[in-house]
Amino acid sequence: MNNPAKLLDLARAAADNAYAPYSKLRVGAAVLSGSEQFYSGCNVENVSFPVGTCAEESAVAAMIRGGDTRIAAVLVYADSPHLITPCGACRQRIAEFAAPETPVYLADKNGIRKTLTVRELLPCCFSEF
Ligand code: THU
Repeated sequence: MNNPAKLLDLARAAADNAYAPYSKLRVGAAVLSGSEQFYSGCNVENVSFPVGTCAEESAVAAMIRGGDTRIAAVLVYADSPHLITPCGACRQRIAEFAAPETPVYLADKNGIRKTLTVRELLPCCFSEF
């Protein structure tokens, strides 16, 4: 069952543990899998900037580690003045395991502010080779 309130709680808790001393942008992501399991992740920065990882990347990795391969819903949270959206690489990471209609909830400290589909976030997605 899709449960954005629980996704929000998990993503907010993940953001609280983010390691973001350089950008100061603490991001949390939470995934509901096709088997109704919840996973979360946070960004982990590094003094060597490109080595840092995104919250979505970490949540998707946790889902794969948990034995799930389908994303039913995903939520990205940051306590930021501007609503954040997943970076290009993370859009592709989400699309790998989601359907075009899968909801992506965008949230800040006031709650869920916007809902997009994976198709809206990443139109004309690269999906075959
Ligand atoms: N970041 C995420 O974790 N997810 C996003 O969707 C956008 C950006 C992180 C990466 C970096 O640690 C910080 O936010 C600033 O770019």
